[in-house]
Amino acid sequence: MADEITLSMDSKAVSVPAGSTLLEAGQAAGSPIPTICWHEATTSNGLCRMCVVEVEGQRVLQPACIVKAAEGMKVQTGSERVVRARRTILEMLASTMDLSESPEILSMMDEYGASAERFPEAERRESPVLDDNPMYVRDYSKCLLCWRCVQVCAEDAQYTYAINFTGRGFETQIGTFFDRTIPETTCVLCGQCVGVCPTGALKPKREYLLEHGLSPQDITVLSSGRKRKAADRR
Ligand code: SF4
Ligand code: FES
Repeated sequence: MADEITLSMDSKAVSVPAGSTLLEAGQAAGSPIPTICWHEATTSNGLCRMCVVEVEGQRVLQPACIVKAAEGMKVQTGSERVVRARRTILEMLASTMDLSESPEILSMMDEYGASAERFPEAERRESPVLDDNPMYVRDYSKCLLCWRCVQVCAEDAQYTYAINFTGRGFETQIGTFFDRTIPETTCVLCGQCVGVCPTGALKPKREYLLEHGLSPQDITVLSSGRKRKAADRR
């Protein structure tokens, strides 16, 4: 197999190492492609489709984060069809979830002229905030199911397997096995899931409490009370 592949990105010839994705080819060609579910530290699964591009000869748009570059490919990263698809993806996200803490996605909405009101009949995914452990809170109303947290908890980093997808179809969300609280799972509170979450669905507990009006002193009192209770239980 050739070590390098030459293809055309937005009518510019670019050579990339064999095995590169179209996302990487776009970066090399100076045609950056927007992403949402992709993260440099996690395996790409092509879930959000924000990175779609048009490949000559292919009937459907291709997710650049998983499709490999091939010799002679002709790729358009910003055609009218691509822009329309990305705008619709953003509009569907805005219609069904809380994007208030997703600044990158909100700026993509501006860039693509996406309207949060495009699908007024859409059912919103709402869930109560889960506050069941000392380190982070989970607000799945803000979750776009990018799967990054599940992946870092599993083979991409931690090998802990505390969380996964639960439910089906519209009911799909991230959760624990048998809906257990986080302390009842294998979670070791490493915080890697919080670090890769793009939407504020997973948030450090301290940040959450400060946002809800507690002072640093209140938080110290709260956590020392919790530590005392844990010691009493031992
Ligand atoms: S909780 Fe965050 S990281 Fe996990 S799937 Fe939802 S948006 Fe992605
Ligand atoms: S970034 Fe490629 S599918 Fe989400």
